[in-house]
Amino acid sequence: MKRKPPFCVIFKLKKKDLPTITLYESNTPVKDKMIGYVQFQIYPDRIDAVDVTIEPHFQKKGYGRFLMKILQAYAQELQLPIELSSLDNALPFYKKCGFTKKPRQSNNLELIWRPKRKRKKK
Ligand SMILES: CC(C)(COP(=O)(O)OP(=O)(O)OC[C@H]1O[C@@H](n2cnc3c(N)ncnc32)[C@H](O)[C@@H]1OP(=O)(O)O)[C@@H](O)C(=O)NCCC(=O)NCCS
Repeated sequence: MKRKPPFCVIFKLKKKDLPTITLYESNTPVKDKMIGYVQFQIYPDRIDAVDVTIEPHFQKKGYGRFLMKILQAYAQELQLPIELSSLDNALPFYKKCGFTKKPRQSNNLELIWRPKRKRKKK
């Protein structure tokens, strides 16, 4: 990955806002040092990623994939798939993050990522 520390990740699960993972370029989370964020909604059967944004200056440096990896690690822990609707231009990005077209959807831009099944303890 091309990103360089220091950076910080804030994981907010506040009830009144949508849960958000925000990435900052320094250890101090100030607005003008924000690299990007992913906002999501947690349902009993899935997580919907509703907004994924990397600030223009920081795009194509690996931060978007890094954010998605954090969300995927969380979804893996909860054993929930992540679903999203991609913009046309972002489709190659999501494919690189392991998303595929949702089954039985005619729309190419409806995507899903599935967690690996956890092994049952013997
Ligand atoms: C789409 C977006 C989130 C990607 O974040 P990013 O930090 O630029 O992406 P990364 O640098 O982590 O890219 C990961 C991989 O995807 C590829 N990629 C990223 N954006 C791409 C694009 N628009 N077209 C083709 N490939 C793309 C990168 O080249 C990289 O490939 P590599 O690993 O082979 O080098 C970001 O560009 C963005 O916020 N765009 C504007 C808003 C937007 O479109 N959001 C998505 C809404 S659905």
